[in-house]
Amino acid sequence: MVNTSIHYLQHVAIIMDGNGRWAKKRNLPRVAGHTAGIKTLRKLIEYAVQLKLNALTVFAFSTENWQRPKQEVSKLMELFMSALQTEVDDLHANNVCLRIVGDKQSFNSSLQNAIGEAEALTINNDGLQLNIAMNYSGRWDILQACRALVKEGQQDIDEADIAARLCFSKYSDPDLFIRTGGEQRISNYLLWQLAYTELYFTNTLWPDFDSEQFNHALNWFSSRERRFGKTSEQIIELSGD
Ligand code: IPE
Ligand code: IPE
Ligand code: MG
Repeated sequence: MVNTSIHYLQHVAIIMDGNGRWAKKRNLPRVAGHTAGIKTLRKLIEYAVQLKLNALTVFAFSTENWQRPKQEVSKLMELFMSALQTEVDDLHANNVCLRIVGDKQSFNSSLQNAIGEAEALTINNDGLQLNIAMNYSGRWDILQACRALVKEGQQDIDEADIAARLCFSKYSDPDLFIRTGGEQRISNYLLWQLAYTELYFTNTLWPDFDSEQFNHALNWFSSRERRFGKTSEQIIELSGD
């Protein structure tokens, strides 16, 4: 848990956007941006471990990203595979529990196996909970939760029933959402879970995002007043208790 002086921050969700533009600015192929983006993620995970953050959930590949040129999609799949293989031991040594979240059935069997092995290796780690959203979309997540309820024959459902069947049922909702790359949209990410998350947008392209910029986002977060529907006066009163 990170104390940002006013707030305790448990869960950060990130849309790592801007790899393609980072590469384009350097006259490099888009895939070079993705390679650089993986390095950035690696450093950010190290920093999150240092900070003793509870959970980090990053968007690596959306359901909609299958529509990209075939070559980019297959390069991305190769990169996921090699990053998993090269990083999993280090993650394990750092007590990180890794989970890939999304519809994994669309991945080829070797990627599915590598995911299964990495998750099994790190499942009992109680340090940083690292969720990598791959072939994930917020609408898909809500749909699969509803399908599970139908399958169970549930009739009288409430919010808690749906929440319990979402991919992220184990974690508290993200406190802070960060999107790099300048777009100010959610792009079908954690639609349910972001209901009361503080939203932080930066023009920095993902490969350029570093610990200093992360600190900037954390400081911004600590300046927010999280009211959850209450009034400012009520919040001030509560914080004095
Ligand atoms: C995010 O960067 C990575 C993925 C979606 C896989 P982009 O590839 O979307 O980069 P831009 O937005 O084109 O710059
Ligand atoms: C969102 O980025 C998905 C990931 C970062 C994995 P996109 O670049 O795909 O989002 P849009 O299409 O610009 O909204
Ligand atoms: Mg993008």
